[in-house]
This record gives sequence, C-alpha cells and structure tokens, in this order.
Amino acid sequence: MSTALITGASSGIGAAYARRFAARGYDLVVVARATERLETLATELRETHRISVEVLPADLTNAVQLEAVATRLRSGSPIDVLVNNAGAALLGNFETADPASMERLLSLNVTAPTLLASAAIGGMVKRGSGAIINLGSVVSLMPGYFPGIYSATKSYILTFSQGLAAEVGPKGVYVQAVLPAATKTEIWERAGADLSQIPNVMEVDDLVDAALVGFDRREAVTIPPLSDASLWEAFEGARAVLPSGLGAKPAERYRAHGHA
Ligand SMILES: NC(=O)c1ccc[n+]([C@@H]2O[C@H](COP(=O)([O-])OP(=O)(O)OC[C@H]3O[C@@H](n4cnc5c(N)ncnc54)[C@H](OP(=O)(O)O)[C@@H]3O)[C@@H](O)[C@H]2O)c1
Repeated sequence: MSTALITGASSGIGAAYARRFAARGYDLVVVARATERLETLATELRETHRISVEVLPADLTNAVQLEAVATRLRSGSPIDVLVNNAGAALLGNFETADPASMERLLSLNVTAPTLLASAAIGGMVKRGSGAIINLGSVVSLMPGYFPGIYSATKSYILTFSQGLAAEVGPKGVYVQAVLPAATKTEIWERAGADLSQIPNVMEVDDLVDAALVGFDRREAVTIPPLSDASLWEAFEGARAVLPSGLGAKPAERYRAHGHA
C-alpha cells in the first residue's frame, strides 16, 4: 500500500488528484483549511475505493499548522507521494499590491511547498523511492502575461523542482513540476477574476489525467496544454547549453571601451 499526501485537496486540482490516487489504490492524507469538504471527500473515497484517508486540516500560511503537516510527513506511516498543490492567485499590478496579501501568497505558494518537500525528502531518500509533484504554472514561462508576483511564485516552483530533481533523482526520488494553463477551478473566483472572460480553459479532470500521464512517464516537467512539445524542448535545450557559454571574464559586450 502506498500513501499520497495532497495539499489543497478540498477543491479543484487537489481534489481531482485525490480521486485519481484513490482510484489507483493509494491511501491518502488530505490537507486544506475546509475541514468539512475534506471530510466529505474522505467519506466518498473510503467508500468507493476501500482506502484509508486521513483528514489533516491546516492553514499552510500559519507556521504552527504548516509544521503539523511537516511533522506528519516526517513521522507516521511513510508518505510515498507528496502533491504540493495548495496555492492561490493574486491579481493586479505589483505597484498597487497589498504587502500583506503578497506575504500570504509567498507563504502559501513558496514557503509551504518548500518546507513540506523538505520534511518529506529525508524519508524518501532513505527509502530510495518516492515522488514529489509540485504545481507550477505556465505563467512562470511568460511572466509578462500575468502582472504582480503570482508568476514569480510559480517560477520558484519550476526552478525549485528542477534543482531538486537534479539532486535527488539519482537517489531514486522522482520530482515532477506540473505547469497548467487556465483550468476550471475555484482559484479564479477566489482571486476575484471572472473565469468566463478567460479563453481556453481546461477541465480539471483533463488537466490531472494528463499530468498523471507525465507522472507515469517520469517526466520532469509536464505542461498539459502545450501541444507542440518541441517548443519546450527548444527552451530546455537553450538552458542546457548555457553553462558552457559562461566565462570568468565579463563578456566582450560589457567591457568598457576607451576608458583607462
Ligand atoms: N486553476 C488554474 O487555472 C491554475 C493554473 C495554473 C496553476 N494552478 C495551480 O494549481 C494549484 C491548485 O489550484 P486550483 O486551481 O485547484 O485552485 P482551487 O480550486 O482554489 O484550490 C486551491 C486549494 O488550495 C487550498 N488552499 C488555499 N489556501 C490555503 C491555505 N492557506 N492553507 C491550506 N490550503 C489552502 C484550498 O483549500 P481551502 O480553501 O479549503 O484551504 C484548495 O483546496 C495552485 O497551486 C495553483 O496555483 C492553477
């Protein structure tokens, strides 16, 4: 029996992951603030799939409650898959953004997944197996399209996932970054956006099913809405050759000419 801990399992992408991992026979630990929604989901999944589901309510922006989830990852029955999914969006320009809202966003989208991965990784490396799925976003690749710091939080997730994969992949731990584009969930309404104004919105089950195809293939980065895979390969290809182009001296174009 394997166990998956899924943050943000009370709605949207996290709830879909919970249903899919339950259908695969995983036991679950489900985390979010909405205890009743988690309990309803847990009852449904226990009855349908005969699995065990632990409900672990937590506000991941609260350091004490975050630590309770980290403790569950470090102790208790081993967690084989961590799905770092809980997250929020913040609309509007950086110039006018409320600092307290940005701080909350950073703690939910950046600090929480980092500290939960940190809590999970020791056991996974020791066992030589396990997986961490981090929910990023395509906006991390096109920051000019989404004002404010949301895309930067998702860039962190992508870079963090790729760096972690390089470190723990050789030790048997699989790390996947999943980059959705607009997906039909509550995130938009919660952030105050009108989903009907957004084009090309993907159904949440389609997104998660595609992300799990990437998971089963052990893809490092899965971008379900990107039909032309060669675009991503070209992007990654440019990144891969960069180290060989770095020198100890400033590049010629940065050398001041005509000055002593
Ligand atoms: N939907 C999209 O278009 C889209 C696109 C790209 C990336 N993503 C990413 O996908 C992930 C899931 O989002 P979603 O679209 O499924 O949105 P969602 O339906 O709003 O779900 C967000 C989940 O995170 C939980 N959450 C929010 N604040 C929390 C907090 N302080 N502590 C603990 N849990 C909290 C929510 O549960 P409670 O309210 O019960 O706490 C909920 O379960 C996010 O990381 C998001 O950035 C979404």
